[in-house]
Amino acid sequence: MSDHSTANKGPKQLIVTVLFSYLLPFAVIGSLVYSATSMKQAASTAPMTEKAVGQRIQKVGLVEVGSGNREMKSGEQVFKAQCGACHTAGVAGAPKFGDAAAWGPRIKTGFEALVNSAVKGKNAMGPQAGGDHSEYEVALAVVYMANAGGAKFEDPKKPEPAK
Ligand code: HEC
Repeated sequence: MSDHSTANKGPKQLIVTVLFSYLLPFAVIGSLVYSATSMKQAASTAPMTEKAVGQRIQKVGLVEVGSGNREMKSGEQVFKAQCGACHTAGVAGAPKFGDAAAWGPRIKTGFEALVNSAVKGKNAMGPQAGGDHSEYEVALAVVYMANAGGAKFEDPKKPEPAK
């Protein structure tokens, strides 16, 4: 009987030892990460003085005031912000930026048709206006992209500012 129990002790201890040697590094890393993040938190809460809080609140207020009549974006800015994700690499069959072979036949359909496709969407491309950018800004991006693909479109006339 006693033989049996001592014989059993060996493997059990082995398992415990093995488990510990696996878990110990994790425990050490975990506590290091924990202390690092809690130090960071302490650092980031430290400068929350009245002035810092005031600046944060003010920034939000300024954005709200400015968003109604913000500066018009250029075609290049709109492209970088919204179109490049697909048109830079040619995702999902999008005509690539600067690829004259891909743009040539599309340019032939005319500026109006291209703007219409971009504004309302076409196949894998969803409607591009109505989100962050106005139809006019999307049209500027069409000019920017089509001209890089060989077109010679002019920027459309700026819409009258809303009264
Ligand atoms: C989700 C990916 C995606 C985004 C974002 C995207 N496009 Fe496209 N675009 C496409 C695809 C795909 C096509 C090809 C559609 C087709 O002909 O089937 C396309 C085609 C076009 C065409 C040619 C339309 C035609 O009639 O031949 C224009 C112009 C265009 N995009 C402009 C834009 C502009 C401007 C933006 C940004 C404001 C934009 N696209 C953002 C995927 C995208």
